[in-house]
Amino acid sequence: MRKIVIAGNWKMYKTQAEALEFLRGFTSELETIPDDRDIVLCVPFTDLEILSRSLHGSRIQIGAQNVHWETAGAYTGEISGSMLTELGTRFVVVGHSERRQYFCETNETANLRLKAAQKAGLTPILCVGETKQQRDAGDTESHIFNQLEKGLVDVNQQNLVVAYEPIWAIGTGDTCASTEANRVVGLIRSKLTNPNVTIQYGGSVKPDNIDEIMAQPEIDGVLVGGASLDAKGFARIANYQFPKYQ
Ligand code: PGA
Repeated sequence: MRKIVIAGNWKMYKTQAEALEFLRGFTSELETIPDDRDIVLCVPFTDLEILSRSLHGSRIQIGAQNVHWETAGAYTGEISGSMLTELGTRFVVVGHSERRQYFCETNETANLRLKAAQKAGLTPILCVGETKQQRDAGDTESHIFNQLEKGLVDVNQQNLVVAYEPIWAIGTGDTCASTEANRVVGLIRSKLTNPNVTIQYGGSVKPDNIDEIMAQPEIDGVLVGGASLDAKGFARIANYQFPKYQ
């Protein structure tokens, strides 16, 4: 059975004080959110410990936004899997388009990070998606299949989330039509060996489009950037109104 995972990606936002402020607003909304869905906050490294302590015993799980493939070493600015799990981190975003675009992440380095994350006991969220030019040129499918093929070499699909994030829809307010997102997510599923991998959609997910997105049969959750920074808004997203898999 596919799990529903509603994840926030805070990117480089929120100091510890701001993270705690968010929690105050968010946890008060939790009671109304059905327990058929996992709720994850992927936060800056500096917020991991304080959130993990504050969330002890809560249903909210914590994720990071990057992990290095070595267990330790001279890799200035990087972080290892055990450094993350020691703080209670459960998930990690890998291969986000911003890492690919600004920090030279490739399918090969994403693959190394995925394997290291799993080895450390983390569940990686692999992000894939096409640019506007690739979409306009009719290359969406081939680009994503290539990302999956190279990214998933020797990756255990029993402990994996994939996020379909069309780059042109990230942070732009230009959401991919939910039926089109559903189509691409279905294609991604057809390339996986485990049919129960959770596949999310990401890209301008908001409180006012979440119900339509989650009504799509292939979509098992969302990866939310901007709208996850607001406690009430993210609570509405996590509280999407569509009964899945009942
Ligand atoms: P967005 O970002 O929701 O702000 O479009 C999504 C993401 O980058 O994961």
